[in-house]
This record gives sequence, structure tokens and C-alpha cells, in this order.
Amino acid sequence: GADLVGGTGTLIAPATAQQPVSPRSVRFPDGFVWGASTSSYQIEGAATADGRGSSIWDTLSHTPGKVLNDDTGDIAADHYNRYLEDVALMADAGLSAYRFSVAWPRIQPSGTGPANAKGLDFYDRLVDALLRRGIEPWPCLYHWDLPQALQDRGGWTNRDIASWFADYALIVAGRIGDRAKNWVMLNEPSVVAIFGHGLGGHAPDLRGRENYAAAIHHQNLAQGRALSALRAAGGKDWKLGTVLSVQPVKPATGQPPNEEAVAKWDAVWNRVCLDPLFKGEYPENMGVDFQPLIKAGDMEMIHQPIDFLGLNYYSRMHQTADPAGLFGTGFGASPEGTKHTDMGWPVEPDGLYEQLIEFRDRYGNPPVYVTENGASYADWVSPSGKAEDGGRIFYIRDHLLACHRAIQDGANLRGYFVWTLLDNFEWGFGYTQHFGLVQVDRETMERRPKASYYWYGDIAKSNTVPM
Ligand code: NOJ
Repeated sequence: GADLVGGTGTLIAPATAQQPVSPRSVRFPDGFVWGASTSSYQIEGAATADGRGSSIWDTLSHTPGKVLNDDTGDIAADHYNRYLEDVALMADAGLSAYRFSVAWPRIQPSGTGPANAKGLDFYDRLVDALLRRGIEPWPCLYHWDLPQALQDRGGWTNRDIASWFADYALIVAGRIGDRAKNWVMLNEPSVVAIFGHGLGGHAPDLRGRENYAAAIHHQNLAQGRALSALRAAGGKDWKLGTVLSVQPVKPATGQPPNEEAVAKWDAVWNRVCLDPLFKGEYPENMGVDFQPLIKAGDMEMIHQPIDFLGLNYYSRMHQTADPAGLFGTGFGASPEGTKHTDMGWPVEPDGLYEQLIEFRDRYGNPPVYVTENGASYADWVSPSGKAEDGGRIFYIRDHLLACHRAIQDGANLRGYFVWTLLDNFEWGFGYTQHFGLVQVDRETMERRPKASYYWYGDIAKSNTVPM
């Protein structure tokens, strides 16, 4: 809204007859990072190329009935073969950073042991291609494609995974760490624990509070072990961080507000990763027992300094009490009148503002990057052949204005990575949900930039967001 202009907001472009649509803009701080995020399983394809091992998402997606339309990531967006084209798309849009994930099964096909040189070569080529076009690589070490061989040994429920992960992190950093400076340990560990191990639906599709607790604790521990291993390896200028899904939790609309359910879900989804990392302790009253899992020294290992926190934000969450729910809570309605994306997720840009302010007030105002934000909307092709996706433009614009407002109010926000560059494999939804700035023709793999791609490129190039 209009409250962004005036005060400390910058009015950079007065309305003129030539600029009837976006007469005003807000300017972001100099050096603000404009990027895009993707993940390996969602875009790479080439599932058996160059010695890649199988991952838990290969297993799940090849199990009939687990993914919509039985879609798989076998081909995905064929990024493995088309990465140069994708890097060119980002460069032409003026992006200065790219968060991608490294597929562990490409690096260690059976999860542990010697590195597969050809797998490392791919990320080496990718990093060089990015740097040639002036884009900072932001590798993420884990975005959900665990080697199946490690799942066969218990995966995230096996405590040994903390050292397996630290070894793997050192292998990757040893190869591309001379050029990649910003490192993300994990992507959304609470989502892996909730949907992969607690409620089911995501790989490895386990269920129950005990599996949830083990997956949480061992991811937290693995993250700590990798942070400390990389810090000891001492890469020059490395910035080490991690990425969490943090969505403010509110009472559901149309139900008696239940503060206990709200607090519990906030703990289960958000604080179970935030608090150990920043405060060295698990939240209380979660109805989940971490004690049997915690060994001497664990909490110190988890409570590591980080150079930045990545925030993936999509919407608030609206919770109600549900005795049948795994944690005694259930998903409820957002406030009357709220718009929804094609995922059915409410559009709540103010929740992003709230979250950034909470990091300022409750977590010591660490450097934060929004490492994911974006929306699923269907697009259509206009008679002149343009792919139109106005809903996405409004969604991103309103979230960027929320970011700007948070910065004005002292949040330590340093950059924004849109989710995502390309239409891709949206996990259990297969290829039915489209989050990309760029369409991917599923037959020909041809890329077609949508209106939002050009619009976001203008933002990245000008460091301003038109209102
Ligand atoms: C978060 C996940 O990190 C990403 O993989 C997913 O596609 C988006 N959210 C959208 O659901």
C-alpha cells in the first residue's frame, strides 16, 4: 500500500502521463541480492546419468499412486542437459544470485564413500557458467533427494547420518568451494520431518511422532556437524547458513480460537528448528519427546553461529485443535476474503513482514535472505504468443513491498530469491502446479519466459519495485 511512500520510503518516479500503470516505486538498499532458487530433483532430470545413484524421491515417485499422475523426476526440466540455457535466462534477467541444490546421489551414489567424479563435474561446470555470467552460486547441500542407500540404513532416523552428511558436505565444498562462497546446509528440515516422517506424503513416506522427532533431531545435528566441519575447513570468505520454512501460525477462522493448538503447531513447524539453532534448546510442551535422542554435546553442536538465515515464506498457517491430528492440531481456514493461489495457499504478504520482524525481535536480527517466495498460478498464452501470469506478479510484488517495509523497520534482510525459475516437479503434485517465471513445455522441454520473468528482471536490474 500507499503507506510505503513517504516517511523513509523513497519516491523515485513521480506519476507522469507516460507511466500510468506504476507511477511509484520503492527502492531497495544498495547491494540487495536478487536471485532465484531451484532444487536438484525438481529440475535436473537425467536420473541415471553419469553414475547418479537412486534417491528416496525416485523410489517414492516410481511407487504407483504416490505422486499425482504418477509423475516422476526422471526428466523433470532436463536442466542437467540444459543448464547453460537456464543460466542464460537468469543472466538476461539481471539476477545476481542463484540458489540450487546439489544432488547427494550424484556425488555419493550409495550415500557414503568416495566421490563420483562425474557428478561433481556437473556442479563444477554449473558454477563456472554462473560466474562467467556474473551470478553468485548459492549451493544448498540437501533439498530432499537423499540417497536411497542411506534410507535403507534408516536415513534421517539413523543418528549416523550426521557424520555421513558432514563428510558429503566436505566433498562438495572441496570441489566448488574455491568459487562458491555462500553455502546452505539444509532446505526446510521441519517439512522433511513433518511430511517425510510424521504425516507422510513426502519421501520416505514414514509416519508417526517418533519418526518425526528422530528426523528433526538428526537433521539439526547434521546441520551442526556440517557447519562445524566447513568452518574448520575454513574456506576463504565462506558464508555458511541454512534455510528454514517459517510461517507465522494463527488461529483458524470460524472455529473457537485455540491458543494451545496454535502454540503447538508453531513449535512443531517453526521453533523446532529455530530454537535449537539460535538458543540451543527445543521448545517445551510439544507433545514430542526429544530426550531419548539427545546425547551429550548435541545441543552445543546444533547451537552454531550462522552467517545468515534463509527464510522460505509462502503464507501464514491457520490452526485449530484436532484430537485426531498427529500433534493434536489440524489445518483450518484463513480469514474470510483471503485470496488463494492454485495450491490453495492463502495470499498473506503481511505474514512475511511479521516473520521478518520476529527475527529482528526474538532471534537477534541475524542477516536474513528470503530464499524462497513465490506462487503457483496457471498461465495462459496470449494471441501474440506471450505467456501471461498476472497473479504471480501481484503475489511477488506484494511480498516484496512487505520485505521493503520490514527493512524500513529495521529487519536485517539482505536479499530475495524467487521460487522459482522454471516450472518443475512440485513433489506430490507432480507437474500440475506451476511456480516458475518460465514455462517448460513438457513435450519439447522448450523454455518460454512468462510476463513475470520480464517483470522480475526489471526489478533485479533497477533494484526497485513498482507499486
Ligand atoms: C518449498 C520447497 O523448498 C520447494 O521445493 C517447493 O517446491 C516449494 N516450497 C513450493 O511448494
